[in-house]
Amino acid sequence: MRIGIVQMRPRFGAVQENTEHVVAMLAQGRSDLWVLPELFATGYQFKSKEEVRSFAEPVPAGPTTTRLIDAARNLDAFICAGLPELAGDKVYNSAVLVGPDGVIARYRKVHLFSHEKELFSPGDLPFPVADIGLAKVGMMICFDHFFPEAARTLALSGAQVIAHPANLVMPVYAQLTMRVRALENGVFTATANRVGEEARTETTLRFTGNSQIISPGGNILVSLSPTEERAAVAEIDPSMASNKALNPLNDRFTDRRPEFYQLLESS
Ligand code: ACM
Repeated sequence: MRIGIVQMRPRFGAVQENTEHVVAMLAQGRSDLWVLPELFATGYQFKSKEEVRSFAEPVPAGPTTTRLIDAARNLDAFICAGLPELAGDKVYNSAVLVGPDGVIARYRKVHLFSHEKELFSPGDLPFPVADIGLAKVGMMICFDHFFPEAARTLALSGAQVIAHPANLVMPVYAQLTMRVRALENGVFTATANRVGEEARTETTLRFTGNSQIISPGGNILVSLSPTEERAAVAEIDPSMASNKALNPLNDRFTDRRPEFYQLLESS
């Protein structure tokens, strides 16, 4: 199976232009599963709740999801992408997983970063794992990388590949943590980060690129630069992620001792 990541520089607010730009990038490569950044079509730095609401779209009926399904059909591929989701009176920082036949899974970001807490409602759905036939794919978004429970929950739910749309702005922490998330859970991870800057408020945000695909052994299969727009693909064997053994006597999952982790359930 091939998995691909798209590193891009969206123009804030130019939803259709950014979407068509990405679709054109996808058409130049070949992958079974593409991962796009968080909020890939809108940009990131919204000034207010009202502004983010004006860009938010219902899932699956909204134009961005509809266009992604159309692209998935044309490319015979699956696409995971971040977008602001409108659901009743709430707006979530969401990701969708779409295929040729429509939306397969949806995720609403659980761990909101910084000013996102003023703009979005926190996620209210479980971490999703979807079987796309070639692999079981889980989703988490950007800052979720800081919480090992997110990737662990996905892996325990059967994910072989974790799709990780991102808009990373801190020092390259996620490039470190996601290697550990892959290694400790024995899964592939695909982090699609964006590049460029946004300075729509008093804070200038610099997005760090360095998108990467990591193997269940924690090895870097693909690593992109901090600045360039690029799509890149890795050939993987998802069944590698079904073997959690480290040696004949140690297994990342069966060696766990949940009875000693009870504090995690309540605090
Ligand atoms: C982030 O969660 N966008 C840093």
